[in-house]
Amino acid sequence: AVNIYIWRQATRVLTMTSTTPKRILGIHGPYLNLLGTRDPMLYGKQTLDEINARLARVGQELGFDVACKQSNVEGDIVELVHSARGAFAGIVINPAGYSHTSVVIRDALLAVGIPAVEVHLSNLYAREEFRRVSLTGAVTRGVVSGFKSGSYEWGLRALVEIIEGK
Ligand code: DQA
Repeated sequence: AVNIYIWRQATRVLTMTSTTPKRILGIHGPYLNLLGTRDPMLYGKQTLDEINARLARVGQELGFDVACKQSNVEGDIVELVHSARGAFAGIVINPAGYSHTSVVIRDALLAVGIPAVEVHLSNLYAREEFRRVSLTGAVTRGVVSGFKSGSYEWGLRALVEIIEGK
């Protein structure tokens, strides 16, 4: 009986670690490679590398590795979302302009079913009307918008709370 108990506990631990990797995927959409030079009043002065470094630092503090990728191509972002299945515990995503148009990125987020948080540097509600609707944000656990690079940090912290069931 003791052996069976130990075996059960061991498989439980193994299953837990295999289904919840301590890794988070950060996805940046179009034009975010130009951060730092692109409209700093709206998007802040930090470059994408600086944002990624901040995410890595905060991730480490919370016990998660954060791997970040940027693409200007909608299909690539779909592939990135798909690649998260089984490999990442959660996704922090800024789909940029695709937030307002992309049914396929939305469908990808729904298909993988991994907890995701959407972030925006600018405040979508203080801008043009068409930015107030996010097709992608509506299928994430929540949206952080308007805190420049801080949106990424708060989004990551919220995501970790969700993953850890807090
Ligand atoms: C953005 C907001 C989008 O509306 C815009 O198209 C972007 C950046 C943001 O982070 O504020 O490219 O996603």
